[in-house]
Amino acid sequence: MSSLTLYIHLPWCVKKCPYCDFNSHALPQDGGQPERYLQALLADLEQALPAVWGRSISAVFIGGGTPNVFSPQWIDELLAGCRARLPWLAGIEVTMEANPGAAGQADQIDWKGYRQAGVNRLSVGVQSFHGPSLVALGRVHTAERAEQAVRQAVGVFDRVNLDLMYGLPGQSLGLAEQDLQMALGLGVGHLSLYQLTIEPNTWFAHQPPVLPDDDLVFEMQQSLTAMLARAGLDRYEVSAYARPGQRCAHNLNYWQFGDYLGIGAGAHSKLTRPGLADNQGPTVVRENCVRRPQDYMDQALAGQAAHRRQQLVAAQELPFEFMLNALRLVEGVPPSLFRERTGLPIETVLPAIGQAVQKGLLQADVSCWRPTARGLDFLNDLQALFLHQ
Ligand SMILES: C[S@@+](CC[C@H](N)C(=O)[O-])C[C@H]1O[C@@H](n2cnc3c(N)ncnc32)[C@H](O)[C@@H]1O
Ligand code: SF4
Repeated sequence: MSSLTLYIHLPWCVKKCPYCDFNSHALPQDGGQPERYLQALLADLEQALPAVWGRSISAVFIGGGTPNVFSPQWIDELLAGCRARLPWLAGIEVTMEANPGAAGQADQIDWKGYRQAGVNRLSVGVQSFHGPSLVALGRVHTAERAEQAVRQAVGVFDRVNLDLMYGLPGQSLGLAEQDLQMALGLGVGHLSLYQLTIEPNTWFAHQPPVLPDDDLVFEMQQSLTAMLARAGLDRYEVSAYARPGQRCAHNLNYWQFGDYLGIGAGAHSKLTRPGLADNQGPTVVRENCVRRPQDYMDQALAGQAAHRRQQLVAAQELPFEFMLNALRLVEGVPPSLFRERTGLPIETVLPAIGQAVQKGLLQADVSCWRPTARGLDFLNDLQALFLHQ
């Protein structure tokens, strides 16, 4: 059975950013009912246990939202509660996302407290180090605050990721390069670089800002990728760059179509049930938790697992689902992984593989399917070839 990772969703933020379509909400007056949410998470985990019986966790990711709206003590209780219910492999990666502004502009974030709670990898959402860009993005922190928080984090954690976005309102090529230069100067081992996209149901979708044109955004992407390569950060996924030993085990498992158990409001899971007979392939099941935090807490605490909605993934959807993830990986995947994770014969996708190679989007041989540089630039086109196989 493939590896299993644990994703824990904490849905609160200081304020909702206008570009964000994650299941995240401005912290309510009651502080998000931390005690009740914690009990709901642990109840949720218990209700999910039969689906992962006998398996051990190989990485943990506490995402959001903004997990550092909750205290280190709260995170400590959460991790202890999870460890008590589910076996963890020794020495695993435990990532927590964080926002530099969550503790208020004047306060320092207690990074050491989070490390003592068991977090050993931090992912800090910075987005930009340019004041006007942060204002345009509606961020709650200044550039100085972000810089200070990252400097302190690097002093406490060996493994730190920064999230940066480019293609921001009013951004020039020079400003995008300055943001990255600043990030590189802070000595982090991992960078996630995202083009700002306007997502439906966000404030920006209703009030669209003026963004740089496509040619300029493409120029930014090419220039930033080259800067990262020169700085010794390998691009291992379409948006992720890491120094040796700094790749994110949790996210790699996603991209390799491994199994993950998600707990928390709106969290997703992907779990494989082995076939019952030798000639029967595995069944892939997706589970989605109820999104609204209040409903999630009510339903998880009621103990009926009604908040976990299950859906079997039909065999004909599996090739696209696998490729949607695997083709994001710069080094590609061995074809044997397709058979292992989907239970389908490789022949199922050979016509699409052939088309992708012919279009110059994919390199394929018996040992590896790997997107070309062009394939990474036109990833949607490459992935679309695997629809309805
Ligand atoms: C859950 S947030 C990370 C942590 C924290 N909530 C924060 O924002 O500081 C995940 C990341 O997704 C990226 N992101 C969110 N919305 C985006 C959008 N519309 N376009 C591009 N990247 C986006 C941001 O870089 C963000 O840091
Ligand atoms: S802080 Fe992060 S999760 Fe929260 S709204 Fe902003 S981008 Fe989304």
